[in-house]
Amino acid sequence: MNIESLAKPSVRTQPVYEPGKPIEYVARELGLDPAGIIKLASNENPLGPSPKALEAARRALENGALYPDGGCFELRRKLAARYALSEEQFVIGNGSNEIIELLGHAFLSEGDEVVMATPAFVVYKLVTLLFGAKPVEIPLRNWCHDLPAMAAAVTSRTKLVCVCSPNNPTGTANSEADLMNFVRNLPEHVVVVIDEAYAEFLTQPPDLRPLIAAGANVVCLRTFSKIYGLASLRVGYGYGSPELCGLLNRVRQPFNVNAIAQAAAVAALDDVEFASRTARENREGLSQVALGCRAQGLEVVPSVANFLLIKVGDGNRVFDALQRRGVIVRPVKSYGLSEWIRVSVGTRSQNERFLGELADVLKRIASVREI
Ligand SMILES: Cc1ncc(COP(=O)(O)O)c(C=O)c1O
Repeated sequence: MNIESLAKPSVRTQPVYEPGKPIEYVARELGLDPAGIIKLASNENPLGPSPKALEAARRALENGALYPDGGCFELRRKLAARYALSEEQFVIGNGSNEIIELLGHAFLSEGDEVVMATPAFVVYKLVTLLFGAKPVEIPLRNWCHDLPAMAAAVTSRTKLVCVCSPNNPTGTANSEADLMNFVRNLPEHVVVVIDEAYAEFLTQPPDLRPLIAAGANVVCLRTFSKIYGLASLRVGYGYGSPELCGLLNRVRQPFNVNAIAQAAAVAALDDVEFASRTARENREGLSQVALGCRAQGLEVVPSVANFLLIKVGDGNRVFDALQRRGVIVRPVKSYGLSEWIRVSVGTRSQNERFLGELADVLKRIASVREI
């Protein structure tokens, strides 16, 4: 019997997440020297991991024979102090991606609806489909979440509403006032997910804690993957009411976050200097890349995150040509943006290299067209 036919219907039709290509993979595929490849495809931190986190992770490895603290006590304690919330108001995940899945476990059944923007972070849609629920996708307006249209799309079947701010793949953010107003006016049967994966890159991240204090069904998601440079260790968190976080904690695996990641995350929170340097250099990199692209006559979506959406003509072709030159970016055709690429902000010299290779690739494509 065909194993496919034994799988649940939602699994049989489940789309596959396409991650940014790892450097080693591209080197192998194209016969390139990995040392000459730069990856600007997954919005990682070009400065590497927080040095304090790295040191703590190395120390934690010594106890690698022991199971981790399943409750992530130290990390929740540290986060609680930082946010002036209680420890019960946090759920720690194997990346914030896992928390999106936990939301599915806790709230989604077949036939439920999840309201989300399009294009927005694809994992909301993947998790929705995996639980047999229906994604209700609301197009962006001026590259931003159209919050009034999203509110209007809520029905009695809506279980979750996902807002990504700053949004991936556009890098645009909704204001604190608009987010507060949006959440306050949604019906009580809806759980609102505010994905703040890139919030630390904003000069002033929105503070949605008043909504939590007022008892709104809202959970905010953050990650150590970006601002603290710990993408490989897989650790993120959600904060909300103790009841909501309690439900998410109930459906997670007992040891979902390993001890190395926990130790690194605890230490990263103290690495204020690294986080500010990352944010500062990212802002400089954003203008460097945006100005460089505009100087080439290219349209760029104004971004407040650590990546930019750039209109290059044939996105897949440019992605491919850049990759052959050892610069990995992200094609965004799967987001319905076939003329665009998404590029993460790198170090100053990586950005320079990207801009140079991009100019060259576009010149070559134009000259082939003229022939
Ligand atoms: C908007 C958004 N949310 C969540 C994530 C997942 O982050 P994590 O590494 O914590 O799973 C990403 C990763 O790129 C993202 O872009």
